[in-house]
Amino acid sequence: MYIKFCRSFGEDKKDEAGENLSSKLSVELQEEKGKQTVGNVRLYRAACFFLTAICLVLLVAILVLSMKFQAVSTACSEREETTPADRHGPSPTCSYDDCQALFPNTQSEHVGCQQCAKGWLKFSRSCFYLSTFRLSWDEGQRNCSSRGGSLAVITSHSLQSFLTKKGKLKYWIGLRQNGGTWTWVNNNALQHSYWEEPPENGDCGIINSDSPPETSWMRASCQASTYFICQLQL
Ligand SMILES: *[C@@H]1O[C@H](CO)[C@@H](O)[C@H](O)[C@H]1NC(C)=O
Repeated sequence: MYIKFCRSFGEDKKDEAGENLSSKLSVELQEEKGKQTVGNVRLYRAACFFLTAICLVLLVAILVLSMKFQAVSTACSEREETTPADRHGPSPTCSYDDCQALFPNTQSEHVGCQQCAKGWLKFSRSCFYLSTFRLSWDEGQRNCSSRGGSLAVITSHSLQSFLTKKGKLKYWIGLRQNGGTWTWVNNNALQHSYWEEPPENGDCGIINSDSPPETSWMRASCQASTYFICQLQL
């Protein structure tokens, strides 16, 4: 800008001194340009070198990772072929043992290596199945145990709100009254409860997705027919 201004200023004046100044300036300008080009070439070279180095590092990383994943999937598919395991249980594609052998550092977090079967929801160390058909409490419990689990046992507030929110209907849970005391299907005593107010009658427990998680449990006759939630521990 400054140089342009000087040049036009010189032309405008049209005197000798002005013309001298103008030619001198154009020489300086060219030198400047030359210097700039050399600078640019250096910059481009550095950038090129830098980008090539990054490419090489990434290439090595991709190779290492792909080899690792190949090892895992081979181990898992071998296992799948040899043991056509229970389809409803934890995914047969990768057992804890395989996982531990491949990733010894992840010992304490082996949950990350186990999955729930298709159609089951994972929460904490369990898989949950929300039925799409209705049965009585006993039939529901039988159906769950033939899938390798039981009706759901709700032992934490976070699980209670998870199951209330995931469902859309009324589901049997593994809670039943016997001689005035409520017990879970695993024979544990009921600790914290989430009964609706006022409570209905009946000896079996239902979780109702229409209610807030704090008060979503209903009582019903165990012979009634409703949906149910199965739980399978990993
Ligand atoms: C659960 O019950 C349904 C309906 O009666 C039946 O079709 C299904 O096979 C049962 N599942 C198991 C694993 O028993």
